Amino acid sequence: MPPSIATLPANPTRKRAPLAPRSRDEQRRALIREQFVDLHADFDRSRPSQPLCEIVRRTVVNAIEARHRATGRRVRVLEVGCGVGNWAEYLLAASDENQVPMEYLGLDFAPPCVQSCNRRIGNRVGSRAVVADFESLTPDSSYDVVFFVEVFCHLRKHQDDEWLRKASQWLAPGGALIIVDKERHSRHGWRVRWDLFKRTVLPASWRGRGYYFPEKYNTLLTTLRYPHFRHLAGTMKRAGLRVQPIERHGLFNAVVGCRES
Ligand SMILES: C[S@@+](CC[C@H](N)C(=O)[O-])C[C@H]1O[C@@H](n2cnc3c(N)ncnc32)[C@H](O)[C@@H]1O
Repeated sequence: MPPSIATLPANPTRKRAPLAPRSRDEQRRALIREQFVDLHADFDRSRPSQPLCEIVRRTVVNAIEARHRATGRRVRVLEVGCGVGNWAEYLLAASDENQVPMEYLGLDFAPPCVQSCNRRIGNRVGSRAVVADFESLTPDSSYDVVFFVEVFCHLRKHQDDEWLRKASQWLAPGGALIIVDKERHSRHGWRVRWDLFKRTVLPASWRGRGYYFPEKYNTLLTTLRYPHFRHLAGTMKRAGLRVQPIERHGLFNAVVGCRES
């Protein structure tokens, strides 16, 4: 039986949890996790761009507020792939400012990211981050808002549908599932693919300047595959969610699907 959230420890002391990679997917997940462990200090120093904050405000913050208006109670929020806690910090600040009570749970399989996230959460009652691989958890249908920011960009094509179906099972009736990322079929998406092609195929002296990511992100870049938002919206519909029009801001897109009350 896969573990449930309640059984997971916060702030584990081990730097890398053991995972014996078997399938191609598992090997890829191990590589992604290793990269986020190794590059953790960089991510911990960086802050999200203004357009990314704006699209998170329009979708995630709005969904939390709408849910509080509808139920009048504390909103339960789950972030999958919480990283170093940028959104935990952002949402908890918005919750204080707008007086919308919430409980935040962040999941991430990179232990140092979870430690940073917990540091940013501080001693907020009811909020924490835990080390967990989303793929190995049992959904418990109790969250009002479930969201992913720049996590689907590390999935393979077949995982988009599996993850969306699984994520929708974490939603309480009336809850909202939100995906924020860059769009695959965009100028940025094409330029990243072209850059990746150059980095993996051409000798260094022929590559010219990298388009977007510094060289040290080369390995992580090989795992990058931005999602196609119309496809995500279609899968959400097939999973029984009511889908809102796709939101766009700067390089970012967001799709919101709501479970019937
Ligand atoms: C690009 S970072 C985004 C972090 C955060 N959402 C943000 O926007 O600042 C992607 C995160 O997803 C996490 N991640 C990727 N696959 C995961 C999985 N299967 N289970 C849990 N976390 C995962 C990585 O460890 C990483 O911290």
